Formats: sequence, C-alpha cells, structure tokens
Amino acid sequence: MADVEEHIPVYSSLQEVYGKGEKLSKAQSRYQILKRKFFEYYGHIPELYARAPGRVNLIGEHIDYEGYSVLPMALLHDTIVAIRKQDPDNNPRTLRVVNISSHNFPGFVFPADPFQDVDRSKHIWANYLLCAYKGVFDHLRAKGVEIKPPYSGYDILVDGIVPMGAGVSSSSAIVCASAIAIMAVEGLNFSKREVAEFTCICERHIGTQSGGMDQAISIMAKKGVAKLIDFNPIRATDVVLPRKGAFVIANSLTVSTKAVSAASEYNYRVVECRLAAMVLAVKLGMALEEIQNVNTLSDIEGLCIAYADARGESSPLLAVEAHLHENPYTAHEIEDIIQVSLSDVFSKSRACLEVIDSAKSYHLLKRAKHVFSEAQRVYQFRDAVLSSDTDDEKLRRLGELMNESHTSCSKLYDCSCPELEELVKVCRANGAMGARLTGAGWGGCVVSLVEENSVPCFLESLKKDFFQSRIDSGGIKEGDLGTYAFASKPSGGAAILNL
Ligand code: GLA
Repeated sequence: MADVEEHIPVYSSLQEVYGKGEKLSKAQSRYQILKRKFFEYYGHIPELYARAPGRVNLIGEHIDYEGYSVLPMALLHDTIVAIRKQDPDNNPRTLRVVNISSHNFPGFVFPADPFQDVDRSKHIWANYLLCAYKGVFDHLRAKGVEIKPPYSGYDILVDGIVPMGAGVSSSSAIVCASAIAIMAVEGLNFSKREVAEFTCICERHIGTQSGGMDQAISIMAKKGVAKLIDFNPIRATDVVLPRKGAFVIANSLTVSTKAVSAASEYNYRVVECRLAAMVLAVKLGMALEEIQNVNTLSDIEGLCIAYADARGESSPLLAVEAHLHENPYTAHEIEDIIQVSLSDVFSKSRACLEVIDSAKSYHLLKRAKHVFSEAQRVYQFRDAVLSSDTDDEKLRRLGELMNESHTSCSKLYDCSCPELEELVKVCRANGAMGARLTGAGWGGCVVSLVEENSVPCFLESLKKDFFQSRIDSGGIKEGDLGTYAFASKPSGGAAILNL
C-alpha cells in the first residue's frame, strides 16, 4: 500500500524495465532509433527518457468514474518519450513534438505556455501531450509554486507501441510518459499517487470525463501482479493471479474512438450515472437542497444499503429495482423529480452539457444495475483469487465473473458492438474460461482467460475463426497478427530512464 507514496522510479539501464532476452533487445533497438531520430530532428541527443505502459482491465468496467475499485494489469506495450529542454537563449521558446509511432502522425510546434487551451475540436495526437504539459504546471501551481513567463521550451520525440483505439489505454500511456518526462527534465519527481491523480485530471482537457483507472495502473503497475485500484484516495493493492492462467488480448478491429464520440457514448454514460444517482437519492429521501452534491452512484450507496437493510437484505440493487423504471427517462421527467434543470446540474462541465444538448433520453435503471453489480464482481474476483481453492477452481470462478461482466457491459451498459460480440463468442467457443470486452468498449479488445499451456492453440483458433476472413478481405496483414492477438503477463509501471 505504501507503493503509492513512492516516487516514480529512476533507472539507468533498460534491463531494469524490460528484463532480458528478446524483450530487452527489442527495447534496445527502439531506444537507439529514438536517440538517432532525436538527433536528426533537433540536432542534439535527448537528456532523458520516460516510459509508461498501456493496460488491460481484467474486471471493473465503467465504474472508476463512479468511485468504485477496478482490477487492471499493465501490458509490456508502452510509450516512450525522449526529451530535451531547449536552450534558454532560444527565441521564441516552443514545445516541439514529433511522433515516430506511425508515419501518419504529423509533428507540431506549440508556444511554450503551459496555460494554453487544448483545442478539443481538433482530434490530433499532440493534444494528449499538451494535456500532460498543462497537467505538470497546473499541479505545481496547485502546490503553491509560482509559474510565470518566460516558460521553458522542450523538444520531444514520442514512440508508442500500445495499440491505438483498442481499449488498452494508448492515450494514458502518452499522457503519463509525457508528464513524467517534462517533470524529470525540470528536475522534479512526485509520488505515484500525485502523478496518477494529476494525469487523470489533465487528460480530461481532451473532453472525455474518464475515471482514473488508466493513469493509476500505468503509474503504479508492478511486474508479475495485477492491481486492485481504489479511488478517493487512490490506492493500489497487489493481486497475484493463479499461475496456471494466462490472459489473451484480441482486437475486434473496430476502432474505439473514445474522445471523438464522447458525447454520444462515454460521457453520455457518465451523465446517465449521475442522473440515476440523483433520482435515487430523491426517492430514498435525501433533502432536495442536498441533491446537487450527489455526483456518483457510490455517493448514494449508503442510502441504498440502508434501504436493503431495513428489508433484511444487503444489496444496493434492491433500491435500484424498486425506485427506477425500465423505460428510458426524458429530461423533463428527471427535472420534475430532482427539481433542478439539467443545464444547472451540469453547468460546470462543458463535456456534460454537450451530452444533454443531444441526448433524447436516459437509461437510469440499466446503468445503475451495471455499476452496482460490476462493483460487486470486482471484489468477488479479488476474493476468488485469495481463496484457498485449487488453481483450476479459481480459474473457473474468475472466468465466470468475466463472462458476467461482459453480459452486463453488453446488455445493461450498451457499450459493446457486433464485432466484440462475435469475438467474445469465438473466444469462448475455443476454450476461454471467460471472455469480455475490456476498456471503454464500443470497439477495441476482448480479454480472455485461458490455461497457460493452451495459449498457442487458442491463438491459432482465433486466427482461423476471426482473423483469417479479415486477412483474406485485405483488412489486416497476416504478418501483423501478433499485434492484434497476444498473451500478456502483468508488467511494470512508468519510469524515468537516464541512459
Ligand atoms: C476508459 C477510461 C477509464 C474507464 C474505462 C472503462 O478507459 O479512461 O477511466 O472508465 O474507459 O472502464
């Protein structure tokens, strides 16, 4: 638990992060290329590097922003940021950024001003870097440090291998690695808790009202273990997974554009959950003057439990079933119940106002049922891991919980899509003990729990039953299959590298 108070680790060799063998040699070649390209672009070599991994969420989907614990693990796939502070005599000082992850990424030059706005109307990769830049200096300001011009300029080169639009947090990997690189080149370091908190807040400049899972695991991950992440305040507890199991991540090949479709998907769910919490609060007797302070379903869990308790039960779902109706609510009906207009409820959040501008109705019962039941499943998953059952029994139970989680995401939270449904079916038909969408959904990846020794055979079946038709139709190249379906063990978290 003390982990979160440790600072971001600083290493002087790649081995400390990437281990030995093939992983190390692949990393060495990436860092060499980065160094050479940095010199080609900027005429100097970088001062230092920072890296942050992507993640796969094992269970606990769409509940972090409702205040509930989640259970992800980090992938070995990471984003590396090389950085150098510009010469103080440089005029004007700028933020020069280049991304060599893909040939389609243009470079950008921004003014050196950490308080500039992020232009959310343009969906460009460099906005994530700007979020990080702002985040570091907003954090310093919040700590009482005076930040005034002239601001330092930075030259930055990025290389990421976290699959993009795949629900495995490529965006947080770039935000976390960039923030840590900027901190480090300024001679600063903070506790993992602080970095996880401010990177979560600053990534919201993109417009998605995400919870803190992605940043927390990218920062706090530890090799060999998954983490149970709690929020408010952030804590991270090791979860040692049964040895005989392996997680396989497979891409549905439907891009999950979280930031682009925020108002109709991700932020829509954030709004529905808040409204469900407010309506339930009124129904369970909270005074109308207090309703505006209800932000999440976890804020009213106590009221739901008291309701169940009075009836000899314990689940918060009892109050949900009793007080919310199946049919979608109109804005008008909700406003009548809570006695506040929706534009007042969300007056402080531009992103949420965009949702209510276009939303026609709100599914409160389904969303609340998902959140409360998924929150329970996270603890059931942790308890199953800790139980004295045999590995086989544990794996069966974990698989069951993953399947239940998927059904809830698909049927109650409506965040699946036909390709994810097809892939989940293929995974289960080929022996996965559990398979579910991972990350925000609406595309992206499926995570499957399989027996470690059946991984090669499982991957082969996925190729035959899901990917081959996509290869034949020219959608993907056979040689790239390893980036679309792979097994992963829990990897380590973000780090600073002084090489
Ligand atoms: C995205 C968000 C996370 C989390 C997941 C869904 O990855 O960034 O905070 O809400 O979706 O579980």
